[in-house]
Amino acid sequence: MKFLQYSVLPFLLVVVILSLSGATLVHSHGDFLHCLSLHLANSSTISKVIYMRNNPSYSSVLNASIQNTRFSTPATPKPLAIITPLKTSHIQSTIYCSKKHGLQLRIRSGGHDFEGLSYVSEVPFVILDLLNFRAVEVDTKNKVAWVQSGATLGELYYGIAAKTKTLGFPAGVCPTVGIGGHFSGGGYGILVRKYGLAADHIIDAQLIDANGRILDRKSMGEDLFWAIRGGGGNTFGIVLAWKIKLVPVPVVVTVFTVNKNLEQNVTKILHRWQYIAHKLPDDLYVDVGITKVSSSQAGKKTVQAAFIALFLGGVDELIPLVQERFPELGLAKENCSEMSWAESVLYLGRAPRTSLDMLLDKNVIPRTIFKAKSDYVKEPIPESGIEGFLSMFLEKEADFASMLMVPFGGKMEEIPENELPYPHRAGNLFQASYIVGWRKEENAESGKYISWIRRFYSYMATYVSKSPREAYFNYRDLDIGSNNISGYTSYQQASIWGFKYFKNNFKRLVQVKTMVDPMNFFRNEQSIPPLSSP
Ligand code: FDA
Repeated sequence: MKFLQYSVLPFLLVVVILSLSGATLVHSHGDFLHCLSLHLANSSTISKVIYMRNNPSYSSVLNASIQNTRFSTPATPKPLAIITPLKTSHIQSTIYCSKKHGLQLRIRSGGHDFEGLSYVSEVPFVILDLLNFRAVEVDTKNKVAWVQSGATLGELYYGIAAKTKTLGFPAGVCPTVGIGGHFSGGGYGILVRKYGLAADHIIDAQLIDANGRILDRKSMGEDLFWAIRGGGGNTFGIVLAWKIKLVPVPVVVTVFTVNKNLEQNVTKILHRWQYIAHKLPDDLYVDVGITKVSSSQAGKKTVQAAFIALFLGGVDELIPLVQERFPELGLAKENCSEMSWAESVLYLGRAPRTSLDMLLDKNVIPRTIFKAKSDYVKEPIPESGIEGFLSMFLEKEADFASMLMVPFGGKMEEIPENELPYPHRAGNLFQASYIVGWRKEENAESGKYISWIRRFYSYMATYVSKSPREAYFNYRDLDIGSNNISGYTSYQQASIWGFKYFKNNFKRLVQVKTMVDPMNFFRNEQSIPPLSSP
């Protein structure tokens, strides 16, 4: 009777709940579900935690945070279940039951993975979605915050701005990006030149490992704490929350946008930018976004570079600085606006600035279909090289293509390459990333857009880092190499992509993985493999 009371009743209850919602249990679903329901202490919460395929809310929960809609078509492999834990014991039970039933676990925070790895797998899998773990606690006195992985960057910035105008955080500009993936992959934003990466400011974390143990910095040890700050999510465990150091920002910052196109000497200005942007004072960040736009001549297209900047100070100080250091830009006061640092995040994230509440809007950035790639540039690209890539934007496949050039230097120059897993520090002029999109109706022709970006990437090879050709882990790109998802992956095979993302830090990441998850429970197409996985 006792057994019935504690074990079978929750399972029976879940069967009733699912039957009421029209669900039918397929055998493998049932085994996993049986296991999970036995382990969830409070059966009344099961309907809020487990979403099986036939649950009416399954699709909306699955699609809620899919940012790249390339991975939300009927052909996209779907999880057997989505688990949305309300407390840590639900996560421990999910780990236990996934292991027991041989299911892969995909961990999802904000769902912005470029290749959809947090919610797609070719082998049977379940998603652990941290959407209920989104608390943000800001302590202005000690200039720190605890933020849970399921929160978005916008929620973090909003939480900081609600308490102070003189503290900020150096993470990405897109408010909908999730903390979990972003922090575990490095995370850069508009304060990168002044303060470095998000990961550089993490001082503690709470993680659940493959054995279901809840660890903090002290109990996980410095090797694992090093690895989770840039070595990638879904490799070492589930990071529940992060303690971060906030950074000072002035009450008023200045932003500007200056557009230059082919008819306005853009090639020469871009060429100059490469010599200037990484050497500007750390308080000034000027990135470049390149796209195809309509020309002033009717019916014609041109290529435009948008020089978009953040200055940690007022406009009157900014104008003479830019006029002296980068006169080719022709910056005028009317290009500039003063605002708070939190508003500048919306501005640089190309999001509407009607109110700071936009930071909380999960749809503030339109969801699109895309493929992206990244590079690091260490020597200025000659004008002829710039002309070559600009001309590729005039091709018909590039209607929804863009290139982003993010200046480094400043703090990034000072941090040693092995300080954290993210290795792309001193000696980089800028990070380049390329993205191509297309309309949903064109999905059948996606190949021609993906070929375009691959050609673009080939063209850039002459001008970017070599041996390895470095890439940014958080701009995930499965073209650069992949693990065997259902079997053993050798160190040599994983090295193909691993050294591009992590350079020599890959070796230490493999050692940490071998130590903390030797059975390779946490895995995906680009997770760090242990030295000899089963
Ligand atoms: P998602 O939930 O998809 O997770 C990404 C990866 O991390 C997956 O492998 C997942 O399993 C794992 N993971 C997630 N949560 C975890 C957790 N709690 N514990 C362990 N593993 C976990 N980057 C940048 O540096 N600066 C920027 O400005 C931007 N801007 C930007 C804009 C847009 C529109 C997109 C789509 C992406 C960016 N990015 C970015 C890239 C972004 O940093 C990257 O995609 C992050 O991994 C996204 O984190 P999410 O939690 O949203 O993704």
